[in-house]
Amino acid sequence: MSEEKNILEVKDLSLHFGRGEDEVKAVDQVSFTVAKGETVALVGESGSGKSMSALSLTKLVPRAARFEGGSVMFAGKNMLELEERELRQIRGSRISYIFQEPMVSFNPVFTIGWQIEEALKLHRKGIDRKAEVARLLDVVHLPVRLAGAFPHQMSGGQLQRCMIAMALACSPDLLVADEPTTALDVTVQREILNLLAELSEKTGQSVLMITHNFGIVADLADRVYVMQRGKVVEEGTTRQVLYDPQHEYTKKLMAAVPRLLPKECPTT
Ligand SMILES: Nc1ncnc2c1ncn2[C@@H]1O[C@H](COP(=O)(O)OP(=O)(O)OP(=O)(O)O)[C@@H](O)[C@H]1O
Ligand SMILES: [Mg+2]
Repeated sequence: MSEEKNILEVKDLSLHFGRGEDEVKAVDQVSFTVAKGETVALVGESGSGKSMSALSLTKLVPRAARFEGGSVMFAGKNMLELEERELRQIRGSRISYIFQEPMVSFNPVFTIGWQIEEALKLHRKGIDRKAEVARLLDVVHLPVRLAGAFPHQMSGGQLQRCMIAMALACSPDLLVADEPTTALDVTVQREILNLLAELSEKTGQSVLMITHNFGIVADLADRVYVMQRGKVVEEGTTRQVLYDPQHEYTKKLMAAVPRLLPKECPTT
């Protein structure tokens, strides 16, 4: 695949914790790509290294973590070689994260509108911020009046939408959604992920969706990487992985989402 087509190319990325007997290879020679406008899913059980892979993209990893090799090419640059100052510019402006807990991502004492405006101030100087806040809330299907609301005055689903609005505030090239929905009920989860897929279709943004529940992303992702114990054990188009999983672990994961499979297609 060419670099022009791919916005992101991760190659042989390794990130370890601890040493000697205590060493954990949280990310173990992981490679994946995301093309422009593509929605890619990283799927795997808890602890398989999904979040650490995602955080490695902009070196947002915990202090105790060590990079042990590999590269993260984003827009032609190896992120692992950039200075903190350059990384800060990319975080939030070209790569935006949507984290698991919306409540902890907002400051409780400021209104949502104020917080989105702050993101705009930082990354997009010289625009009409009030108008842009209104536009962003509209994009995520929220009424504009919520700009004046405080985080605790919103439902979990509304807050999640605000987070997407905030992530979109700087029109990132890549949106990383790390299980954006675990705290929400299934209906809301679907709504939010549909919204992300809809946005990526409209704007051509690339999306990296991270989940342990393949059922949730099965009809949204173009391609899937399956992770187990820090390694990518299988990759393919969503269709391939869903209907013809090769690896035993993938088969088990797929068996956990039987409702998506037609009856004539056994999972094991
Ligand atoms: N601060 C840390 N110190 C030591 N080990 C860590 C630390 N953070 C993560 N790890 C280890 O790294 C591995 C990968 O963790 P990671 O958070 O990427 O998993 P995950 O696939 O995102 O899981 P989940 O679905 O539960 O979010 C795990 O074995 C975890 O214990
Ligand atoms: Mg995680």
